[in-house]
Amino acid sequence: MVSIAILGFGIVGSGVAGVLTRNREQIDTAAGEAVRLKYIVDVRDFPDSPFAPVIIRDFSVVERDPDVRVVVETIGGCGVALEFTRRAILAGKHVVTSNKALVAAHGQELLELAKLHNVNYFFEASVGGGIPVLRPLKFDLAGNRITGIRGILNGTTNYILTAMREEKLSLEEALRSAQARGYAEANPTDDLNGMDAARKLAILSDLAWGREVRAEEIGREGIEKVSLKDVECAAMLGGKLKLVCEAKLLPDGGLTAFVAPQVVMPGSMLYGVDEAYNAVLITGDAVGDVMFYGTGAGSEPTASAVLGDVIDAVRHRDRRRAINWSGTPAVLSDPMGLGGRWFVRRRDIAAIEEQCPAVPKGEDAACYRVLEK
Ligand code: HSE
Repeated sequence: MVSIAILGFGIVGSGVAGVLTRNREQIDTAAGEAVRLKYIVDVRDFPDSPFAPVIIRDFSVVERDPDVRVVVETIGGCGVALEFTRRAILAGKHVVTSNKALVAAHGQELLELAKLHNVNYFFEASVGGGIPVLRPLKFDLAGNRITGIRGILNGTTNYILTAMREEKLSLEEALRSAQARGYAEANPTDDLNGMDAARKLAILSDLAWGREVRAEEIGREGIEKVSLKDVECAAMLGGKLKLVCEAKLLPDGGLTAFVAPQVVMPGSMLYGVDEAYNAVLITGDAVGDVMFYGTGAGSEPTASAVLGDVIDAVRHRDRRRAINWSGTPAVLSDPMGLGGRWFVRRRDIAAIEEQCPAVPKGEDAACYRVLEK
């Protein structure tokens, strides 16, 4: 039998506990032995939870318990989550996480530490919620030269833009609805400003190209300034406004990456990706385009990816799975060099012709790249 501990009993942590309990038999069979939840660590009290008997406050109990072989970190952020992850690895425990902020900022360091201590550090749930994408990218597509990654990687903003278009809601109303469904981060700023999506794109790019892409260096524009008018104008053109992430290998071997709202046209495989769904389109020189699609946020979809990693960690508990993530920094080229068509909404048409595509955004102006394919 293998015992596990969950750090953080929030949306994802509670999903992991629930699905692990509900699908116990199936998970035991897949793992090859019984997987039992021994502790949940959280500073809050949950007296009415069915998991109350295993909830503790002191992480050092987990750290010192040799029965705990796998630690699931669903605390989020880079504070205590980083400290506990380091301590768990130093104590010889495998760590599984959904924490994209931590993976994007410290993934390379934590993978190195895990290598030194012969344990696994797995983070499938950090990108695309329940969609299996990192493992296919790292293992199944390993024979390809990856030339591009394009995706919708934030469920909250995709849900918001869908609700604005379909229900004619303002951005604020649609955000409240996304929060009520548990899609948004505790602080939705990073959803709205594109930082959450940039972190996920950085993780995908690190794994695809073996260069350290820093989320902070990715060209980024969020949806904070998107108005219902923009969404409606995009629809009049036959497109849908979506927050799209793109990273490309350039002909000179360099990389470019950006996150921005784009008008996605029906010819694009991303056109039908609505609500809180995410999709990642990976292009490889041998395979061509492969799209991974599914629920990108929420408690149980994310728990699904976490549990896949837990099972993998249990199955490989004596043998580390090599995930190479180089520390060589990537230098990103300016994405404006990519060209393409732009959608501009402005009262003064003459000004558009003069200034396009660098039209300033304001109440009465908007400028978005058009994604045809
Ligand atoms: N806030 C994130 C999203 C959660 O909306 O996609 C999943 O990473």
